[in-house]
Amino acid sequence: MIDKIRYGGDYNPEQWPEPVWDDDHRLFDRARIDTLTVGVFSWSLTQPGEDIYDFTILDRILDRAAAENRRVCLATGTAALPPWLARRHPEVNRTDFEGRRHRYGQRHNFCPSSPAYRRLSTAMAARLAERYADHPALLAWHINNEYSGACYCELCAEAFRDWLLDRHGTLDALNDAWCTTFWSHRYTDWAEIEPPSALTEHWRGPDHTAFQGLTLDYHRFTTDALLGCFLAEKEAIRRHDAVTPVTTNFMGMFRPLDYHRWASHLDFASWDSYPPLDAPPTWPALAHDLMRGLKDGAPFWLMEQTPSTMACRDVNPLRRPGELRLATFQAIAHGADAALYFQMRASRGACEKYHGAVIGHAGRDDTRVFREVAELGRELELLGETTLGARTPARTALLFDWDSWWALEMSDGPSRLVKYQDVVHAYYRAAREAGADVDVVPVTADLTPYDVVLAPVLHMVKDDLVTRLEAVTARGGTVLATFLSGRVDVHDRAFLTDVPGPLAPLMGVRVDEWDARQPEFAQTVRFGELACEARLVFELVQLRGATPIGTYGTDFYAGTPAVTRNKTGRGEAWYVATALDRPGVDWVVRRILARHGLLGPYADRPEVETATRVAPDGTRLLFVLNHDSEAVQLTATASSIDLLTGKRVEEHDPFTLDPVGVAILRLN
Ligand code: GLA
Ligand code: ZN
Repeated sequence: MIDKIRYGGDYNPEQWPEPVWDDDHRLFDRARIDTLTVGVFSWSLTQPGEDIYDFTILDRILDRAAAENRRVCLATGTAALPPWLARRHPEVNRTDFEGRRHRYGQRHNFCPSSPAYRRLSTAMAARLAERYADHPALLAWHINNEYSGACYCELCAEAFRDWLLDRHGTLDALNDAWCTTFWSHRYTDWAEIEPPSALTEHWRGPDHTAFQGLTLDYHRFTTDALLGCFLAEKEAIRRHDAVTPVTTNFMGMFRPLDYHRWASHLDFASWDSYPPLDAPPTWPALAHDLMRGLKDGAPFWLMEQTPSTMACRDVNPLRRPGELRLATFQAIAHGADAALYFQMRASRGACEKYHGAVIGHAGRDDTRVFREVAELGRELELLGETTLGARTPARTALLFDWDSWWALEMSDGPSRLVKYQDVVHAYYRAAREAGADVDVVPVTADLTPYDVVLAPVLHMVKDDLVTRLEAVTARGGTVLATFLSGRVDVHDRAFLTDVPGPLAPLMGVRVDEWDARQPEFAQTVRFGELACEARLVFELVQLRGATPIGTYGTDFYAGTPAVTRNKTGRGEAWYVATALDRPGVDWVVRRILARHGLLGPYADRPEVETATRVAPDGTRLLFVLNHDSEAVQLTATASSIDLLTGKRVEEHDPFTLDPVGVAILRLN
C-alpha cells in the first residue's frame, strides 16, 4: 500500500496493441503514476455476447499493473452498452423527453427501469468481483460512469407510479401534494399519472412545467432510479468482495441528480472536475467543497480532470503552464486524497481523440504537458502521507439543496433569470475570498459546529431546518438567507403565511410584494456610505423586529430595506432581499465573518486563496494558492515550513508566491 496521494487516471490500453503498454508503463514510472482507472468502457470487450464473457485482456491489464506496482480502480463498465445488448433487448434504450425511443448509439443512455439492463449489468459486476476481488492490483471499485439523464418510457412510467405510491401512500395525498385541483388534474387512478415530458405537462423544455410538484417528484424518482442501478451493482460486488471500497464518479454541481440522496451509499466520494470556460477559481472550489460535504467532510477523490485541454466544447482552451498544478493542489487543499486524470493516453479515434492526455498520440515524454504531469508526480511523492485523511476545520457552512435548485429553476415567476448556482456561488465566493473555510452541506446536516450558516436562495424549506437554524442564532451564531428563500414546502406548495415562510420569524421581516426587472436594470442599494447595485429581483421588506442595514435607492420603494439584520437570541439573522452585486455581497459576508473572527490572513488579496486542513495527527496545513499570473508578496502569519520547498518561514516574515504558485505551510 502506498501512503501518498493517489496519482494516475483513466487508462484504456485495450484500445491499442500490447507493445504500446510497455511504453505506457515506462512513462508512468517517469511521472510516478501509481493508480489506473481501468475498464470504464470495456463492456463489449468483456462480454461480446449475452452468454459469452471474455476477461483475457482485462486479466492482462490488471496483471501488468500489479507487476508494475500500480493499483487499479476497477470500473464495472456498465455506462456504455454493447451493440448486441441494445439489439437484443431494445427496452434498454432510453425514451427521451420528446417521447422518442432511441436506437443504439453513444453512452450514458440506458433505461434505469429496464429489467434486462439490471440483470446484465449486475451479472457483469458480480463476475468482475468474483474474478478480481483478491487481485493484488485492486484498490477500489468504480461503478458505471457519470450517471446522468432521465428516461420517459413505459417501464419508467410504471416504476414512477410505484415510487409515487410508496412516497404518497394514497391518491388523495398525491392530489393534495401536487395541487391537482388546479387545471382539473384530480387523479382517480394511479395509471392516469404520466411522466412529465414534452408530451404531457411541459412546454419550452424541462424547466417549464404546469405542475411543479409532479416534475419535482420525477427528478427525485430519476435520482432514485439511477441510484437503484448503482446499488444493485454494489450489492453484486459485495457478494464476492466485502471490503474493497466502492464509488462512482460524480460531476460536482450537476443539477439532474441529487447527490445528497446517494451520499450514504458510497464508501468514498469521487468526482470529475471540468469547470466551465472562464470560471473563477471559486467555482471548482465550491464543487470540491460540495463533494467533500457528501461524506461529512471525509476526503474525496478527484477522479478526472484534463491535464491540458478538453474536446467536447465548441472551443477548448489549453491549460497554461502551472495551471494544472495549481488546480491539483486546489483540489487537495479542499480535501482530495487522489488526483487522477482523464486520460492517460489519447484515443486514436472517435470523439475524444483530441482530448488532452498525459501521453499524446506520438507517445512522447518530452512534451510540456508530460513534463508538468511528471513534475507534479514528484511533488506528490514528496508530500507523502502528510495530507491523507486531513479534515477542513470550517466554522462557516453553506447550505446546498437540490430540491431548492429544482424548485427555483422550474418556477414560473418571479424571474427565470435567477440561477441557483450563481447566487450560491456569489455567497461562497465572498466567504472564500475573505479567507473563510467553508463546508458546503445538505440542509439535513448537523449545524452545531458552525458559527455562520449561509443559506442563499433556500427556496424550499422542509423538515426541522428552521429549528436548527434558530438554534444557531440562539447560541450566538449568524444565519443569512436571501430573496426567494422560504417560499415553498417539500411538495413545492407556497406556505400559507407571510414570506419568507417559516424563516420569517427568525429573519424578523415580512414580504408581501416583489418586483422583477430585466437584467439591464440596476437598482442601487446603500449601506451607509457604500452604494452598490442590485439586479433581477427586489423583494419589498417590512420590518418585523429586524433593523435595516441597506436600503433601495430608486423607484416607489426607494428608502425601504433591501438588507436587514435581526438580533435574535445571542446571534443575528441577516436577510438580503435582492441579488446584490459582488461588492454588495462582499460587504455583507465580510461583516458577518468579522463578527466571528473568521476573516482570513489574506482577506485583502482576493487572488490569494487559503485553505486549512488538519491531518489525523493534529498537524495544521495552510494551503496558499496564487490564482494570479503575477507573483505576490505576503507576510507569514505564523512560523511554518513549506512542504514543497522545505523552506522555513518565521512569523511576520515576507514570502513570495510565484505566478500561479502554491505553498503548503505546515504550521508549528
Ligand atoms: C467525462 C467522462 C470521460 C470522458 C471525459 C472527457 O468525465 O467520464 O469518460 O468522456 O468526460 O472530458
Ligand atoms: Zn425507461
